[in-house]
Amino acid sequence: MGLPAYGCYDLATAGDGADAPVLLYDVDPRTLAPDLAQLEATMREGAAAVVVAHFYGCPVDLADINRAAATHGTVVIEDAAQALGGTVRDRQPGVKAPLRSSASGAAKPDRGSAVLSSP
Ligand SMILES: Cc1ncc(COP(=O)(O)O)c(C=O)c1O
Repeated sequence: MGLPAYGCYDLATAGDGADAPVLLYDVDPRTLAPDLAQLEATMREGAAAVVVAHFYGCPVDLADINRAAATHGTVVIEDAAQALGGTVRDRQPGVKAPLRSSASGAAKPDRGSAVLSSP
């Protein structure tokens, strides 16, 4: 499982709970978007899934990430816990993702944990 090297404790424990080997990738310190080369390296190293988080309401543009994932047969899980209603390419983060998580914490906009999947 590919996870951002910057993130919250919950991301690491989810990987641990899934008993999946965790491969970390860096995020850009300015945009907080994944370093695409490092993210793709986790896919090459065998990550069956990668988690991409939209930190602090800064939505990540997933076009290149989804293309890379399709090439490697990797599932992209969007963590929208901090997505805060932003948009990128006229869509809300996570809305068309194959898998998307939201959060239940009192400070989160979704107010209810869920893992949602698109048909
Ligand atoms: C990016 C991110 N993902 C996941 C979580 C987990 O959220 P919860 O434990 O509220 O479901 C949090 C909580 O702070 C978060 O910030």
